[in-house]
Amino acid sequence: MAQPLREHWSSRLGFILAAAGSAIGLGTLWKFPSVVGEHGGGFFVFIYLVFTLFIGIPLFIGELALGRHAQRGAVGIFASISGERSFWKTVGWLGVASSFLILSYYCVVAGWGLNYFMMSINQFYEAHSADQISNIFQILYTSGDISIFWAFIFLLITLGVVYQGIRKGIEFWSRILMISLFILLVALACYSVTLDGFKEAVRFILVPSPGGFKPSGILDALGLSFFTLSLAQGVLLTYGSYLRPSEDLPKTALIVGSMVMLVSVLVVMMIFPVIFTFNLSPSGGAGLVFETLPVLFAQLPGAMLLSTLFFALFTFTALTSAVALLEVISANFIDLFGWSRHKAVLLSTGAAFVVSIPSALAGSQDLFKSWLPIYGLNFFGTVDSLVSVWLLPLGGFLTALYIGWHIDKAMIRKEFLSGTKWVSLFSIWFFLIKWVAPIAIVLIFLQKGGFINIDKFFLAVP
Ligand code: PFF
Repeated sequence: MAQPLREHWSSRLGFILAAAGSAIGLGTLWKFPSVVGEHGGGFFVFIYLVFTLFIGIPLFIGELALGRHAQRGAVGIFASISGERSFWKTVGWLGVASSFLILSYYCVVAGWGLNYFMMSINQFYEAHSADQISNIFQILYTSGDISIFWAFIFLLITLGVVYQGIRKGIEFWSRILMISLFILLVALACYSVTLDGFKEAVRFILVPSPGGFKPSGILDALGLSFFTLSLAQGVLLTYGSYLRPSEDLPKTALIVGSMVMLVSVLVVMMIFPVIFTFNLSPSGGAGLVFETLPVLFAQLPGAMLLSTLFFALFTFTALTSAVALLEVISANFIDLFGWSRHKAVLLSTGAAFVVSIPSALAGSQDLFKSWLPIYGLNFFGTVDSLVSVWLLPLGGFLTALYIGWHIDKAMIRKEFLSGTKWVSLFSIWFFLIKWVAPIAIVLIFLQKGGFINIDKFFLAVP
């Protein structure tokens, strides 16, 4: 079947901001600090950065290269390179499935952001103690109806953007709002640095503590790195397919990867000093951002404006990411079944909303009451860990094998080199993809599956 002419990004900056817009989202703003907190700080941030640099960014380049080469959606890419009946199409489907599952709980968290935006306008933190302010999240978390309502509104907004197609919708908005977010984050992080708890926060983040970070937590660091870079979710494959041959892939990947790493560090620097200054708990879990930041805002002059602005931008970054997730799912249906964009977007959003309901009700336990005792995590947590701990690393592993071992090296070399001047980087990149990424991911899976115990090697040292 002849492929319709593909829409392309209008400029390099447009693409970088859209890719960064997809990457920087709730993973960085919401998930990153809570996972760091749950792992007791320590080396976690450092390991996350190392993984991002040596495994995440190389895979990022690989996905863009595959997408650009094939000019199709996530599943179509594997079909067009390896044939319609190839096993590798599974990798594309795995990405689409991961995107779908992520979207189902992403909209719940983004909905909380919308809710905090509305509450900020009403100055909800006024005349409350730090404890009371941070407890407001618990009320929201256990109010299933409110969570569903805001998740629905958020999905509607996402739908509206994707409906309009990539240029007008995704590219346009990503530009303005990513820049505003960045400025606000830098300002808030600078303020946090002046708080009394700053030193303790740095110690918490950088110095391993007994009972805190365990080497086995590195799978979580890897999963988080994939999550934040939007890897193995079909997004970069799809976004790569809208790229022109003149685009410099390694440079673009390095710019986006650095932006993600920078924002992650900024967020942690903004949140942890608040936690230690106001004696909040660093292992706050899902609500860490909602529990700590309002406490910070309440201290500052112009609290209402700051808080409203922050949650507006929080929701916005969630939107640029959710748009990417929905785009991947829809683009696949358009590509594979010839559906119209409108039909694909509507059906995908509807399905995501249905699956989001049990996640929105996870805190109130109104649905699937025995889920928690049976699985040890509520529905929300189960979907999140299924995706971040297993599906994303698995998708990354298969993508690395595909590029490193299966397809024609000359073809991928040509795609890598098209548009870049960094010719000598190819061999290092290929080595990382062929050897380092798969071996690291397998080791981490073996650890997670209980076949090896790396904690023993590290913790045996007194
Ligand atoms: N990288 C996003 C984040 O960290 O919030 C999550 C994400 C967005 C993953 C978009 C995949 C995607 F397509």
